[in-house]
Amino acid sequence: IKPAEETCSFTVPNYACQRRTQLHHHNPSLSDALTLLAENAELNEDDGRAVAFRRAAAVLKALPAEVTSVSQLKGLPCLGEHSLRVIKDVLKDGSCSEVETTKHSQRFNALKVLTGIFGVGVKTADRWIRDGIFNLQQLRESQTTLNRAQQAGLDHYEDLNQPVTRADADSITEIVQEAVSSLFPGAQVTLTGGFRRGKMTGHDVDFLLTHPEEGREEGLMDKVVSWLDSQGLLLYQKTSRNSYLESRDGPGRPSSNMDRFERCFAIFKLSRGQTSPPAGHQWRAVRVDLVVTPISQFAFALLGWTGSKLFERELRRWAGHEKAMSLSSHALFDKTQKRYLRASSEEEIFTHLGLSFIPPSQRNA
Ligand code: GTP
Ligand code: MN
Ligand code: MN
Repeated sequence: IKPAEETCSFTVPNYACQRRTQLHHHNPSLSDALTLLAENAELNEDDGRAVAFRRAAAVLKALPAEVTSVSQLKGLPCLGEHSLRVIKDVLKDGSCSEVETTKHSQRFNALKVLTGIFGVGVKTADRWIRDGIFNLQQLRESQTTLNRAQQAGLDHYEDLNQPVTRADADSITEIVQEAVSSLFPGAQVTLTGGFRRGKMTGHDVDFLLTHPEEGREEGLMDKVVSWLDSQGLLLYQKTSRNSYLESRDGPGRPSSNMDRFERCFAIFKLSRGQTSPPAGHQWRAVRVDLVVTPISQFAFALLGWTGSKLFERELRRWAGHEKAMSLSSHALFDKTQKRYLRASSEEEIFTHLGLSFIPPSQRNA
């Protein structure tokens, strides 16, 4: 890493979807500090502040060199007063007191642990904290009623909070591939989410299933899930057409993220040979998301499920604010022409949006 010249400053386009953002970049200590504040804002349902910090962190991730002085940041987009103050502190002292205080606060840590349980969103976690529940032990000892997802989440807490490796993802891809091709010849399995962006670890493994003939994807999900279940591969599954009922972020997630694909939130049971279970265990639990899409919407779904979350959000903001278009994981609507724009590849969607194509590995905003 080469520090930038004191005198030179950077230029960065306004929207994250206009930029190439690699997984590894030059300013991790700055982006980590801002990301922690974003996370804290999300845990406290302050969405405006969360997005502001996420955008600021993303700008730092996109810089071509290490920042050594705030003067280099003059004129850059998305860096508000608050974010600049944090950056200044970290540059000067190596840390920022607001970040350190947050990191060690009881509320932040309790919210993190409790929302780290699959099926628990921020509203539930906040309610539990108000009832005096700050950790797993207190939750287990309390008389709190858990739904099926939360019970599974608590039962498999340790496994599910262990990063999923690339090898695990490959092994699960093989399993899903085998299920799909034996049940639905011709149907296709695509790895999406963080692993498609080149991440080496993740919190889950995300897949998109489709069939090259429109309509032939119908019934795919039920069959695949039944097969996986019959093989003893599922510890938990919930299949639904509606996304908002149960997601990692709970019912509070923004409506812009919702879609109507058939989907399955699952917990897989991987045995030795399929994964490396923790010492002394024969298997481990891994979160898997399966989504089925008709081929006509595949490109939109692929773009929408590849992430990062901020990249997706910025794509929609760009579409709406700069192009008078509305982008979802199903379609792209041109409000001026009052019609849907078709696409059979991600490249075509970028072209419709007037953006240069950004490959998945550079969508790590
Ligand atoms: P890790 O799993 O933590 O490694 O990161 P990830 O980027 O894979 O995140 P995640 O699995 O949570 O989500 C993958 C992508 O799917 C992200 O871009 C999300 O925006 C998107 N996504 C998640 N939930 C939904 C949803 O309900 N609807 C739509 N359309 N997209 C979603
Ligand atoms: Mn994922
Ligand atoms: Mn996911």
